[in-house]
Amino acid sequence: MKTLVLKNSDEVAKKAASILLQQIKNKPQSNLGLATGQTMIPIYKELCLLINNKKLNLSKIKTFNVDEYHTLPITDKNSYHYYMNNLLFKHININPSNIFFPQSLKPSNYDKLIKKAGGIDMMILGIGSNGHIAFNEPGCSIKSNTRIVKLAESTKKSNSVFFPNGKIPLKAVSVGIKTILKSKKIILIATTKNKAEIISKTLKAKPSPAIPASYLKRHKKVLFLLDSDAASLI
Ligand code: GLP
Repeated sequence: MKTLVLKNSDEVAKKAASILLQQIKNKPQSNLGLATGQTMIPIYKELCLLINNKKLNLSKIKTFNVDEYHTLPITDKNSYHYYMNNLLFKHININPSNIFFPQSLKPSNYDKLIKKAGGIDMMILGIGSNGHIAFNEPGCSIKSNTRIVKLAESTKKSNSVFFPNGKIPLKAVSVGIKTILKSKKIILIATTKNKAEIISKTLKAKPSPAIPASYLKRHKKVLFLLDSDAASLI
């Protein structure tokens, strides 16, 4: 496992986008695992710029989002479909039939689909302040596959700002820890002081269900890409 600390979230966004760009250049038929959340916003903005500047051909790229709210209409502004389309997909020349989300089919079929596509070449992940990755909440098993999950109380609380009508989704469909660990390369990205405590705990912990992100230590090619705020307690 490697840790790279950069000055601020702009530097992190540039680095993450350039790593993704290199992956696409090296393997134009790459399968990418993609996360959502505030952390990823500057990264997708930067990635759009790079892809469009270099006029990259994305016709063979497949994307597999790591999670989506269960039963939330995909047209809802808080859905991860909406987020991804708005921030990335509509700005690049990706083939819409190569874009996949876990809730559009039976959860167990998502892992089969990923396997059939040849596995995830590179997955980018954020981290929740309780240590969740995708929507694998504390208590999840290292052997978990893609499935419907109940959101932790703390996650619902952090998400409540996005659902002022009070209709906060209680469940999500998330790739499992097993799905994540099968990826060839993984980058966990954390920025801001809000993530400092959980990053410090994750880096100190042994892999355990208490902090799902700690399971990433079981993988050989993981990079923790942090800004100095997120790294301030390590
Ligand atoms: C969300 C998503 C995750 C994301 C994480 C961190 O709830 N399910 O995929 O990585 O929590 O989000 P943020 O970057 O907004 O802190």
